[in-house]
Amino acid sequence: MNKNFYITTPIYYPSGKPHMGHAYSSIIADIFARFKRLEGFDVFFLTGTDEHGLKIQREAEKNKKDPKVFCDDLSLSFKDLTKILHLSNNDFIRTTEKRHFKSVQEIWQRLENSGDIYLDKYRGWYSVSDEAYYDEDEITEENGKKISISSGSTVDWVEEESYFFKLSAWSNKLLELYRSNDDFILPTSRKNEVIKFVERGLKDLSVSRTSFSWGIPVPKNKKHVIYVWLDALTNYISALNFPNEKDQNFQKFWPASVHIIGKDILRFHAIYWPAFLLAAKLPVPKRVFGHGWILSDDKKMSKSLGNILDPIEIIKDYGVDQLRYYLVKEVSLGNDGSVSMQNLTNCINNDLANNYGNLCQRVFSFIKKNCSNKIPKPNKLDEIDEKFLNKLKNNTSNLITLMNKQNLNEFIKIVVSYSFDANKYFNDAEPWAKKKDDPERMESILFVICEQIKNISILLSPIIPVATEKVLKIMNLNIKKLSLDDIQNMKNFNHDKELNKLDILFSKIEK
Ligand code: MSP
Repeated sequence: MNKNFYITTPIYYPSGKPHMGHAYSSIIADIFARFKRLEGFDVFFLTGTDEHGLKIQREAEKNKKDPKVFCDDLSLSFKDLTKILHLSNNDFIRTTEKRHFKSVQEIWQRLENSGDIYLDKYRGWYSVSDEAYYDEDEITEENGKKISISSGSTVDWVEEESYFFKLSAWSNKLLELYRSNDDFILPTSRKNEVIKFVERGLKDLSVSRTSFSWGIPVPKNKKHVIYVWLDALTNYISALNFPNEKDQNFQKFWPASVHIIGKDILRFHAIYWPAFLLAAKLPVPKRVFGHGWILSDDKKMSKSLGNILDPIEIIKDYGVDQLRYYLVKEVSLGNDGSVSMQNLTNCINNDLANNYGNLCQRVFSFIKKNCSNKIPKPNKLDEIDEKFLNKLKNNTSNLITLMNKQNLNEFIKIVVSYSFDANKYFNDAEPWAKKKDDPERMESILFVICEQIKNISILLSPIIPVATEKVLKIMNLNIKKLSLDDIQNMKNFNHDKELNKLDILFSKIEK
């Protein structure tokens, strides 16, 4: 079986500081990347910034900066965010890099060579904010302004010479792709939306602009810059050293296993991108997963609405694991979900401090006090111990299936229930009551609960990497050396070594 896995985030417009929506796409992708590594896959996880186009050019002009200098500054804040969020990305691509320039020009050339590109004139609506073309039936009027119905952003009438991509010629091939590969677009509701849209018939797509210059020029016609979405989507193969298709990374990781994106950019990823690739005679990605929006006050967070929650501020006040956990626990992955500081506090207190944190804290303090601070060797395990451990162990393959379908919410629900069960097991087994009369039983109980803390920590490590690393380190284990196989392996502990120092894992937040 091919054990390579390639996962990407959208590349972000560095038109302003990163916000919660960006953090959300990245955290989700990171969780899947980390989980696949635990599963033993060789993972390539890519993120980066999307730096060309009129939107960025205008923003730079507003700030009286050269666009490249403007992007250098803001791209850096997205790169810093990868550290702040503890992302495990293998690469960070910027579309202003040379490697990307080469790759985009090659894609263009292939589309031209295959006869999929022709020169004409574009007349229609364009939203700079979305960097998207809209048809007449996709816009409406509000307060005397034309806006896109789907995104609400202002559209302008554009008339200019433009190269077109023969998207219309690819409708049937695309429909075949969606029908023959059930999981190409997930969640399924999103897939149906896309199919309906394509079935209505696709129009050819304008893929170059002449009214501004901030972009990658069309080879052999420098008057035109390549449409920013054709430029941006190509990042996914530029990072694998395309056009060198013999390159080891390209060979190993293309086609991508999954592109994680927000639902607002589904059309670009599920229609345009595979059509470009088919025309360029390159394999299409295996999956596009469109997550919902994080809403603040029930509205999409956006600069223009002024309702942006700053992930960096929240992390400063509450911690990175706390934000990661909250976002993916609270918001059902394919749907929109509102976030609030009140719910964040409740979630930290209930799930992290009182449940997993409390479990670790009380077990390790007990061992320190009663077992010379070493995890005891197991004596005889009772039926109740086996049953308790097996409930998790025997469900590992189901948990893997859930994660492979991006069913993150069900995964978390189950793992958190194991943590509740573990607190209950510890309460019911009462090791403190066995200390005097049955110390062997006490030791077995402590071994069993440590084993379960190890297993829960492995499963939670993609979601809360900082705390789980600490917990495993307390038990003299290293997450980098553990995998899902270790859930089946009861021989991880060094029983002669003392536990490491125990810090507070999650402080309770006063309301
Ligand atoms: N540059 C394009 C993507 C090109 S990928 C080849 C872009 N950039 S973006 O910065 O505007 O948005 C990037 C991602 O952030 C999108 O997936 C978008 O859905 C996500 N989010 C932006 N705001 C969001 C929320 N409020 N909630 C959740 N995610 C949203 O689009």
